[in-house]
Amino acid sequence: MDLGLAGKTAIVTGAANGIGAAITTRLSAEGANVVVCDVNLEAAEAHASTLAKGRALVAKADVTNAAEVSEMVEKALAAFGGVDILVNNAGLTRDMRITKMSEADWDIVVDVILKGAFLCTRAVLPHMSEQKWGRIVNISSRAHLGNPGQANYSAAKAGLIGFTRALSLEAGRNFVTVNAVAPGMINTAMVRSLPHWNAIRENAEKTTPIPRIGEPEDIADAVAFLVSERASYISGEVLHVTGGRY
Ligand code: NAI
Repeated sequence: MDLGLAGKTAIVTGAANGIGAAITTRLSAEGANVVVCDVNLEAAEAHASTLAKGRALVAKADVTNAAEVSEMVEKALAAFGGVDILVNNAGLTRDMRITKMSEADWDIVVDVILKGAFLCTRAVLPHMSEQKWGRIVNISSRAHLGNPGQANYSAAKAGLIGFTRALSLEAGRNFVTVNAVAPGMINTAMVRSLPHWNAIRENAEKTTPIPRIGEPEDIADAVAFLVSERASYISGEVLHVTGGRY
C-alpha cells in the first residue's frame, strides 16, 4: 500500500527516544522529511543521524515553551517549505499516589502532554489549513481509562482525547484530520525504568490477548497509516494499540 508520504514534512515531538524515534524512522523510510523535536539535544542528534540524509532536521525545543515551539516550526518551514504532519508524542510520567503528589508533579505531566500538544498544534495549524492538507496525531495512552498512581498522567491523556475530538471538529473543513493513538504497554525506557519492570512485563505477556509486550514499531505503524493519504476520511478517532487489552 502506497502511503503517499514521500515529500511530506512531519514534526514529531519527543522524537529522540522510544515511540517518537520509531515514528520518525518509519516516516523517514516512507520518504517524508522529519523534524526530530526533543528537549534532549544529544539524543535527538544521535537518532537523527540514523535517518535519511538531507531529510532529517533536529529541533531542540521544550514543547511547553511557546517561543521554542514557534522557532521549531519556522526552522521546519525554512528547511522543507511546509509542515504537513504533526505528531504530539512528547510525554513523561511522575507516578505517585495522589496524596503524595506535589503540584510540580501534577504541573509537569499535564503541561508537557496537554499544553505541549496545544502549543505545537496552534503553531502548525494555520500552515496546514492554508494548504488544505494536514494530519495531526496525538499520542494518548490506555491510561486515559484511569490507572492508580497516575492521576496526573491519566487526566492528561484523557484530556488529550477531548482535545483531539474538539480539534477534529475545527480543523476538518480545511482537510486537516486529527486522531489519537492510545498505546498499551510499550517497550521503551519510560516503562523499563518502572521499579518492578520484569514482573510487569511477565504479567503483560500472560494477560494481553496478543501475548507479548508492544514495541515502538507497533505504534509507528498505526501512526504511519493515520498520517497517510490512505486515512483522509478518518478524523476524531482514538485508535487503541494495546494487543487487545483495551
Ligand atoms: P520515552 O521517555 O522513551 O520518550 C519520550 C521523549 O519525550 C524523550 O526523548 C524526552 O526527552 C521527550 N520529552 C520529554 N519532555 C519533553 C518536552 N517538554 N519537550 C520535548 N520533548 C520532551 O517515552 P515513550 O515511552 O517513547 O513515550 C512516548 C509517548 O508515548 C509519551 O507521550 C507516552 O506518554 C506515550 N505512551 C507510552 C507508553 C509506553 O508504554 N511506553 C504507553 C502509552 C503511551
